[in-house]
Amino acid sequence: MDRAAHETSPQPVRLQDYAPPPHLIDSVELTVELGDDWTKVTAILSGRRNPAAGSGPAPIVLDGQDQQLQAVTLDGRRLAESEYQVGAEKLTLPAVDGPFELMIEGRIRPQDNTALEGLYRSGGLYCTQCEAEGFRRITYYPDRPDVMAVFTVRIEADKERFPVLLANGNCVETGELPFGRHFAVWHDPFRKPAYLFAMVAGDLGCVEDSYVTRSGREVTLRIYVDPGNEGRTGHAMESLKRSMRWDEEVYGFEYDLDVFMIVAVSAFNMGAMENKGLNIFNDKFILADPDTATDGDFQRIEGIVAHEYFHNWTGNRITCRDWFQLSLKEGLTVFRDQEFSADMHDRGVKRVSDVRLLRTVQFPEDAGPTAHPVRPDTYIEINNFYTVTVYEKGSEVVRMIHTLLGPDGFRKGMDLYVERHDGQAVTCDDFVAAMEDATGVDLSRFRLWYSQAGTPTVTARWQHDPATRRLDLTLSQATPSTPGQPTKQPMPIPLRTALIGRNGAPLPLRLDGEPDGGGATERVLVLDEAATTVSFVDVPPGAVPSLLRGFSAPVKLDAAWSEEDLAFLAGADDDPFGRWEALQSLSTRALLAMVGALRAGKPAVLDQRVVEAFRASLADDRLEPAFLSELLALPGESLLGQALDVWHVDEVHAARAEARRVIGETLFDGWSALYERLSAAEPAGGADLSTAAMGRRALANAALAYMVASGREEGIRLAVAQARPDGTMTRVMGALVALNDLERPERDAALAAFHDRWQNDPLVLDKWFALKAGSARTDTLDQVKGLLEHPGFSIRIPNRVRALIGGFTAGNPVRFHAADGSGYDFLAEQVLALDAINPQVAARMTQPLVRWRKFDAGRGKAMTDALRRIIHSPTLSKDVYEIASKALA
Ligand code: PHE
Ligand code: ZN
Repeated sequence: MDRAAHETSPQPVRLQDYAPPPHLIDSVELTVELGDDWTKVTAILSGRRNPAAGSGPAPIVLDGQDQQLQAVTLDGRRLAESEYQVGAEKLTLPAVDGPFELMIEGRIRPQDNTALEGLYRSGGLYCTQCEAEGFRRITYYPDRPDVMAVFTVRIEADKERFPVLLANGNCVETGELPFGRHFAVWHDPFRKPAYLFAMVAGDLGCVEDSYVTRSGREVTLRIYVDPGNEGRTGHAMESLKRSMRWDEEVYGFEYDLDVFMIVAVSAFNMGAMENKGLNIFNDKFILADPDTATDGDFQRIEGIVAHEYFHNWTGNRITCRDWFQLSLKEGLTVFRDQEFSADMHDRGVKRVSDVRLLRTVQFPEDAGPTAHPVRPDTYIEINNFYTVTVYEKGSEVVRMIHTLLGPDGFRKGMDLYVERHDGQAVTCDDFVAAMEDATGVDLSRFRLWYSQAGTPTVTARWQHDPATRRLDLTLSQATPSTPGQPTKQPMPIPLRTALIGRNGAPLPLRLDGEPDGGGATERVLVLDEAATTVSFVDVPPGAVPSLLRGFSAPVKLDAAWSEEDLAFLAGADDDPFGRWEALQSLSTRALLAMVGALRAGKPAVLDQRVVEAFRASLADDRLEPAFLSELLALPGESLLGQALDVWHVDEVHAARAEARRVIGETLFDGWSALYERLSAAEPAGGADLSTAAMGRRALANAALAYMVASGREEGIRLAVAQARPDGTMTRVMGALVALNDLERPERDAALAAFHDRWQNDPLVLDKWFALKAGSARTDTLDQVKGLLEHPGFSIRIPNRVRALIGGFTAGNPVRFHAADGSGYDFLAEQVLALDAINPQVAARMTQPLVRWRKFDAGRGKAMTDALRRIIHSPTLSKDVYEIASKALA
């Protein structure tokens, strides 16, 4: 393995080494005096020895980073410097036995904090981000989630520049101070770990609303934004109220404080953060109006507002014992937000888009060098484990429990989980145990889903005997080895299964040996061994199995469908996911055949059956527009790349472009009629944000993109007209995306007009950066390099970095993976520049390099060269070190 220039490589933390904290903290009184040079932080901790961690005196060991310790007072006595040790990351104090009171005085410089963890400045605003281990940058503290305390926080600041002072809980006092300063005191009555602490100071606009809980308590809702942005908060506020209602109706969870606050900030590493009573958001996931946000943005905002709100119960009231248990709160909360969105909009469409994300991002992670279980057992830097595996696969694991227990059983399990663990810091195992104990269902083998990494492949073969009318379905499973886990055990895999009859209707099912199937047309088969065969009886000839309905398990399915079966299911499956999946599989097979042809130097010809299936779907007017737009989307380049042993980026790109051209051209009249019909239904102003209207716009944009792909001038003409910057953002972006790869002056003109209209709006400018970076045109890398100097770009704002640099390295495979290695050199350079500023974001940006084994030898060598260049940096953070070293291992 390559060694970093580090003297010693950073050491991993292991789940098996978990030990309860030697001391507990009952209450914290924090005083934060914000100043231009220094910010002074004083913490008074009331603590005691943890009875669960032995007895007798034990030294108090606190975490701390990037701060200057000024004084320590223990039980009223100021300690001499010889009585404690300050290390780079720990403060060790004398051993204590009984209760103690500790006062820690220190100072920090938030204005220099570019890592955006702890207390930092975003523009003129002070704000915090403490998950996972940011609190230790504010004061010395046992910064671990199983230490839960009641916090009282006093903030002092200049009144004119920082009129708004916020922290968790309720504001209990405010007042004036000398020299134009003021203060506010906040008290949060709920015990919480330090990672849920938050405070904000700044000059912010506020939009206020209220919500009456089902038990009749009135809650004040406030959203704080930069002054001038108040008009863009309406959607977030409505989303919040819908989330509050839904959580009461579905889980009986009521909000528990008198005020719920959201603050939108522009410099933020992640999407948003669920701090108790004071959620802090990346402004991108709050601000929206139809002129500046797309329908996709509106839906993401709704989902993220809900996600953070739902954390109040799943995450805050019941939190994680240690960071290995992260999916306890994240997998569960993602599952809850997915279900919320499914209830608010179209369940089938939501499922399809969640599965697409899982397959596009999580499956590759699970198959690569950074693969880890939903509950990891080791990490070097916990920030690297906020992954699609912990979140999205974690949600799939919870969904499987829901499928196995049924909705009522699952709700009973949730009730028991809350009854047992409210106010505690617990483990994934505690969650599963509550689900078992509430229902009597044995989930002992199911627990493997938390500990075993890798995506299982389920193989399905079947045989029908017309004489006996039996259909034997043989299922088997295998999970590939992953780093540190060479062999795998079979896991219980729930497979929702149906048989679709030749007339297109699902058949009533009866298993061999059953007196009667009860008329149900769907069964949950649980494959819990390496292989098994189930037999259905009374099956007429020609029935086609519909398997893994609703994507009931996060697996790869290898099923023996013929192209005819797939075309049939694409038109007939009564499960929306199954229907979409059938067309995806059919298209994938056809596209891979085209890639094969191109590799062999032959022309790529699209299988006519794909075009016919598209034609049939287009003509099916029973389909909701939103669903149809999903149905008509070909699998993306990275999905196709993954389906190959070697991802031939150029051929994959060319094959997909050719397929789009043929579908666009052959069905041009259909697209054009559809586009006209849908555009006529679009009211002027485009402010109809109903699910149906969003679906119509999605479908109109899909039709437009196919018309442009056809190469006909009419398509381009329509797109140019729709791209005019006075339209609503969904339509403008739809047109720009459709035009973006073209080597035509119209494309440049449309992008330039968009830039001129929006260059002073950072969130909209990000869309422009991403378009520029995502274009398949050959000059894209040069364009991106030039844009690093654009006045609207800043390497210190993660949203800008993700739009421009990420738009190229993660959003543009055909150009990023240029055979000459120029994309890799560019990324290595950017990662190193970024690492000195923000290691967490730098580590994420490194990701596109880790799956170098998926590419041909030349690219693989260039990618590993780039990784080596990164890892040999003498000042590398442990965040980037962990990713790069695993990639090279
Ligand atoms: N806990 C946040 C969420 O998923 C994500 C987050 C993690 C935000 C770490 C900031 C830092 O809702
Ligand atoms: Zn979360």
